[in-house]
Amino acid sequence: MSAGSNILFKLSGSIAAWKACAVISQLVKDGHQVQAVATEAALRFIGPATLEGLTGRPVLSDLWARGAAMEHINLVKWADLTILCPATANTINRFAAGIADDLVGSLFLAHNRTRPYLVAPAMNPAMWAHPATAASVETLRSWGVNVLPVASGRLACGDEGAGRMIEPEAILVAIRTALAQGRGEVPRTSARLRVLVTSGGTEEPVDGVRSLGNFSSGRTGALIADTLAALGHEVTLLRGGRSARPAFVQDVRAYTAFSDLQAALRTMLAEERFDAVVHAAAVGDYAVDGVSVDGAAATVGRGKIESGREVRIHLRPTPKLVDHLKGWSANPDLKVVAFKLTRGADEAAARAAVEHLFAHSGADAVVHNDLESAGAEPDAFPATLWPRGGEPLVFATRGQLARGLGRFLLTHAAEARPAAEASHP
Ligand SMILES: Cc1cc2nc3c(=O)[nH]c(=O)nc-3n(C[C@H](O)[C@H](O)[C@H](O)COP(=O)(O)O)c2cc1C
Repeated sequence: MSAGSNILFKLSGSIAAWKACAVISQLVKDGHQVQAVATEAALRFIGPATLEGLTGRPVLSDLWARGAAMEHINLVKWADLTILCPATANTINRFAAGIADDLVGSLFLAHNRTRPYLVAPAMNPAMWAHPATAASVETLRSWGVNVLPVASGRLACGDEGAGRMIEPEAILVAIRTALAQGRGEVPRTSARLRVLVTSGGTEEPVDGVRSLGNFSSGRTGALIADTLAALGHEVTLLRGGRSARPAFVQDVRAYTAFSDLQAALRTMLAEERFDAVVHAAAVGDYAVDGVSVDGAAATVGRGKIESGREVRIHLRPTPKLVDHLKGWSANPDLKVVAFKLTRGADEAAARAAVEHLFAHSGADAVVHNDLESAGAEPDAFPATLWPRGGEPLVFATRGQLARGLGRFLLTHAAEARPAAEASHP
C-alpha cells in the first residue's frame, strides 16, 4: 500500500465531478493526505461540504481568499502528486495557454515539474475531438503531464463517442503507479514496450450450457495489465471471458476454451511484434475429449444434457502453451514471464515446481504463488518473482507484484530492444 503521500486533487466543472469523489474517498482510505482545490464551476457540481467531508480539509478555490494568498506556492511544495480530475476542455485549454487567472491555473504554472501531474479528461465527444483540445492535450503531454485516456460510450449529455472520464478504479491505478514511480519503486523511463498479458482461466465446454473451468479470478492479470499500461507501455490483455476486466487497458480481447487461447496466442505473437508476454492465464491442463450420456456418445459443446443422467467426461491432456510462446513469436528476443500456482506446497515443493517450469518453458522469469496464502482483501495475494538465474523477490500484494514486474520488464525487455524503438516517438 502506498500510504502517506500528499495529493493535490483539483476539480474542474464537469458532470464527472461525482466520480472524482469516489477517487478521493479511496485515496483517503489508502492513508493519503488529500487537499481538494476546485474551480468555481466545479463547485456548482459538487458542494464544498462533500469535499471537506471526504478529505477532512477545507476545499480551496479562491486565489484571493483571506489568509491564503500564498497557497499556490505552498501547495506545490507540499504535493507529492497533483491530479486534475475531472479535467474540463476549458481548463485543459487554459493550462496549455499558460493562463493562471484562478487558483487551479496558478497552481499548474507553479507546479514542480519533477513531480507527477495527472489529468483525467471528461467532456462531450465534440469537445474532446476539437482541434483546440487535441492540440492542448499534445502540448500538455510534451510538458510531461500525464494525460490519461478517455473512455468511449454514452455520455450524460446523451451523445455517444470518446470523451467520458475513465472509471475511478482506473484513475486510482494511474495515481498508485505514479506514486510508486515517485518513491523510486519503478523507474521513470521513456521506454515503451509492447506487452501481451494473459489472464483468467480456460473453460472447456461439456454440453451447450455447461463447462469445466478453474478458480482463476483473472484479478492478478488484469492488475498487471493496468499497471503496465499506467507505466506507459502498450498493453494488450487477453482475458478469459468471465475473468476480471481491466480498469485502464484499452486493448482487451477474450478467449474461452484452451483451443481459443492457443489460436489467439499463436496468431497474435506471429502477427504483432511483442516485447514480452506475461502469461498469467490459468490454462486448463485438460480439455474435454468426449462426453457420454447413459453410455451413448454425445456431441461435446452442443445441446443440454438432461438432469438425472449418468455422464462420463473424457479428458485429454493439453500441450503447455508457455513452452511455445517464444517459438510462435515474430520477435526472437521475446521475454516470457510464466506463472506457477500451487496449493499448499511447502518451500521445497514450490521451488521444485518453479525449476521444472523454467526447464520446460525457457521462461525469463517465473512468478509463483500458492492459493492457500491468498488473504481476505482482494489485493492480498503474496507472490515470488524468480528471475532466471537471479535472486527471488517477494511481494505481499498483487499491486506490488504488478509494479515489480514493471521493473523487471524495464531491465530485461527494454534492454533487448534497439534504442530507437524503445522510446516514445
Ligand atoms: C451540466 C453541465 C455539464 C458540463 N459538463 C462538462 C464536461 O463534462 N466537460 C467539460 O469540459 N465541460 C463541461 N461543462 C462546461 C463547463 O462547466 C464550462 O466550460 C466551465 O466554464 C468550466 O470551467 P472550469 O474549467 O473552470 O471548471 C458542463 C456544463 C454544464 C452546465
